[in-house]
Amino acid sequence: MTFPTHRPRRLRQSGAVRRLMAETHLVPSQLVLPMFVREGLTEPQPISSMPGQQQHTIDTLRRAAAEAAEVGVGGVMLFGVPAVRDAIGSGADDPAGILNIATAAVAEEVGDQLVVQTDLCLDEFTDHGHCGVLTDEGVVDNDATLERYASMGVAQARAGSQLLGLSGMMDGQVDAVRRALDAEGHVDTLIMAYSAKYAGAFYGPFREAVDSQLTGDRRTYQMDPPNAREGVREALLDVEEGADAVMVKPALPYLDVLADVRQSVDVPVWAYQVSGEYSMVEAAAQNGWLDRRATIMDSLMAIRRAGADTILTYWATEAAGWIRDSLR
Ligand code: PBG
Repeated sequence: MTFPTHRPRRLRQSGAVRRLMAETHLVPSQLVLPMFVREGLTEPQPISSMPGQQQHTIDTLRRAAAEAAEVGVGGVMLFGVPAVRDAIGSGADDPAGILNIATAAVAEEVGDQLVVQTDLCLDEFTDHGHCGVLTDEGVVDNDATLERYASMGVAQARAGSQLLGLSGMMDGQVDAVRRALDAEGHVDTLIMAYSAKYAGAFYGPFREAVDSQLTGDRRTYQMDPPNAREGVREALLDVEEGADAVMVKPALPYLDVLADVRQSVDVPVWAYQVSGEYSMVEAAAQNGWLDRRATIMDSLMAIRRAGADTILTYWATEAAGWIRDSLR
């Protein structure tokens, strides 16, 4: 009789055995690349709080989208940075607005190779930086904002966006945008709802990326970090309203919510590895404190393991390249 009876280490004895026995896999099509395009640029502008990321010109945006497609990335998610802002975010649903023009350019470039996606939120376009329009008292007005989102959704679909990322955290936003799309015949335009989007510090670097005008915070509409059950409730409501996929965001700090949501819905579940998660790893790697590539791959695998079908990550193109190389 040999001892011990159980030897789980047998599963880890070599690279070949580990590869055969792996429970979770990561392939390039599961990754989506978020990118920023800024109105009026002639040269791309580095984002200092996100080393390696930039505000693109339309030209460099096209090129980056083509590179992502080349390595098999599943989609690109576009964020626009307008030159002029106002109280209602007029640039958001203006067909000549930066995001809509850029969407058309990217759709033309790679629309048949990957899924071209757009952020549907007003914060980049408002002069106060909030995700919606304000009442006279300065409070974010949920229902008035829904009308703006509906108009923005139609403008994005017309521009060629194939999937709308509803990131504003207004109640009823999926329903409002779905109705508006369908009324215009855009029945095939997908809606991915940022269902459990938590307020907090992890979006810090992104605020530089989009030149955010926000003073204060988003705590009356984005979720409160202590609440996990409420994240599941938000996801279930969005599915009921017709969301094609739901999201949990940020990713690594909210793996528990991701796993709960995965158990609770039968639509694809996405996770957003946000700017703060990105910059933490980049900073530690720059200091020589973390092995950059290994840490990135560990984090992506953890997010997949917790239940994400698809991951938005600023490392999408690079990671897809590594995955491809490792399969050769
Ligand atoms: C809102 C939006 C934000 C992010 C994605 N969509 C900013 C916010 O909610 O403040 C953050 C993404 C990141 O931090 O990488 N349009």
